[in-house]
Amino acid sequence: MSTTFKIQTTTHCDVLIIGAGGAALRCAAEILEKTPDADVIALTKVSHPQKSHTSTAQGGLAAVDPKDPLDSTLFHMFDTWKGSDCTADQNVVKKICESAWEQILWLENRGMHFSRDPQGQLSKRTFGGHTRNFGETSVHRAVFEADRTGKGIMDTGWGETLKRGITFINQCLAVELLIKDKQCGGCVVYKQKEGEFIRILAKATIFASGGSGQVFQVTTNCRQNTGDGLALALESGLPVMDPEAVQFHPTGIVGPGILASETLRSVGGILRNQALEPFMINYAPKMKELAPRDMVARAIESEIREGRGILNPDHNIPHVWIDLRHLPDEVHEKQIPEVSSFFKRYVNLDPKKELCPVRPSNHYHMGGIPTNEFGEVQNEQQETIAGLYAVGECAAASFHGFNRLGTNSILELITMGKLVAERVVEHIKDEPKSRLDIGVDQFAKRFSRYMGATGGDSLGELRNKMRSVMTEKVSVFRTETGIKDAIETLNELKERADNTAIAGRGLAMNQELVQRWELDNLLAVSMVICLAALDRKESRGAHFRDDYPVRKDDFNYHTLISMVEFGTPELGRREVDMSVFKAGGERYEMFDIIERKY
Ligand code: FUM
Repeated sequence: MSTTFKIQTTTHCDVLIIGAGGAALRCAAEILEKTPDADVIALTKVSHPQKSHTSTAQGGLAAVDPKDPLDSTLFHMFDTWKGSDCTADQNVVKKICESAWEQILWLENRGMHFSRDPQGQLSKRTFGGHTRNFGETSVHRAVFEADRTGKGIMDTGWGETLKRGITFINQCLAVELLIKDKQCGGCVVYKQKEGEFIRILAKATIFASGGSGQVFQVTTNCRQNTGDGLALALESGLPVMDPEAVQFHPTGIVGPGILASETLRSVGGILRNQALEPFMINYAPKMKELAPRDMVARAIESEIREGRGILNPDHNIPHVWIDLRHLPDEVHEKQIPEVSSFFKRYVNLDPKKELCPVRPSNHYHMGGIPTNEFGEVQNEQQETIAGLYAVGECAAASFHGFNRLGTNSILELITMGKLVAERVVEHIKDEPKSRLDIGVDQFAKRFSRYMGATGGDSLGELRNKMRSVMTEKVSVFRTETGIKDAIETLNELKERADNTAIAGRGLAMNQELVQRWELDNLLAVSMVICLAALDRKESRGAHFRDDYPVRKDDFNYHTLISMVEFGTPELGRREVDMSVFKAGGERYEMFDIIERKY
């Protein structure tokens, strides 16, 4: 008996958020603070919003305290620009850095427990690439809640939104965007528990669907980060911006790749090779362990490539060490308790006494759905789509360019969450109840195809093959041959996926069906990463080409890539905003295209 796919019900709301992590909650809280009567629905794939990936964030949020005599917003803007390898948009950098402290106060006033020093002031820590006086020396700029800052943010956002009447729909997938003539009217949602497809019509729809880390085999990301928002945008004919800009965190715990926070290096942890040499001095003589992530990740991979890594026969994964043995007990216990416990739990080592094995692990996607500085989604022609917004990791405004500084992502999602909300509030004020009732036509075809396939491949195996080819060929170091190999494999995997049968016929809690949908999303995101990486014949930030190892001015632009049909892209460009540099003024000459040395 064939399964039929039809819309069971239609719901109306003011604001529909696809996601319920940190960006979604901050945005929803602001919308509800400003318009208490608004109906706001947030969708999440997981069984509870608190299981969103933001909950795992460890290190902190960068924000310049206006009372800090040693720091300034201008320094933060400069570090972000330089860190981005001159590819962040300066209008966005200025806006976010200037509103950063206000966001710390917002969180603090709503109950977040930031760590404090013995004098009762907010504690601050330094992170890679954050400096004083335009690179002179590293600066303490990130506020934090021990090494579980993300959990504090989620608790705060969760409490605020619940108190103000948000509706969460858990365990559901946004499977079709209702979009036509540059207007968005909501989306089709698959409710997993009920096995139902429903249509939600909204005055404003906000992508806040998180990252795509599952594209890679070793990642700090949660299981649910399968690039769904990016894939949905592509399927709807929208572009993705800078997908080739993928961040590898220098210190994943070897094996699982779980995040070993940069805090470890901030509090004095030292990276050592097989001979126990502290090798970072050879790559970033001034900043050493506190150079930006792209550089530290490349340094570690270079040590391994050149035979100075460590190979433990237990797991055969080459790695380097992070040495924390010299740190005072108080630092272990108060500043890094969570990460220390991870080393104990996952590799059975005591960081107070033993060297800990680390290797770069996929961490963050700088690329995403292109938006302007207000989070309004743009098409290939850079026209905005009315009623459609994006915020958080799935979005690219772009604050991070080609390399994100540690602690700038939580800052971005909190700040942009608020800025997007302000725009949404304006938009919904003047909109009729349902903006438009766009016909639904994609999801049923897609899910019928999934259910109609008869081949014998295993979805898990295809997914593993995709993850391993992406890790092997398109990660920290890339070459034309490697990327082309990956593209060939992805094409083959896509064909096999399209023929793979799904055994379960029911729609309720059909995990195979969800996996099938995720695999399509992962393959689409992998493909645009490869195609954009192939096209960018230079090295910039986290995109490093062994065959083109130098940054080139000819590539001073954002990549835009659309791909409605798998493997058939349309490539475009967006200019990098240099409005700060162009405005001139005190020290604004620092915002030119500059050399990147640390
Ligand atoms: O290393 C960390 O704690 C991660 C922070 C970040 O990605 O911003």
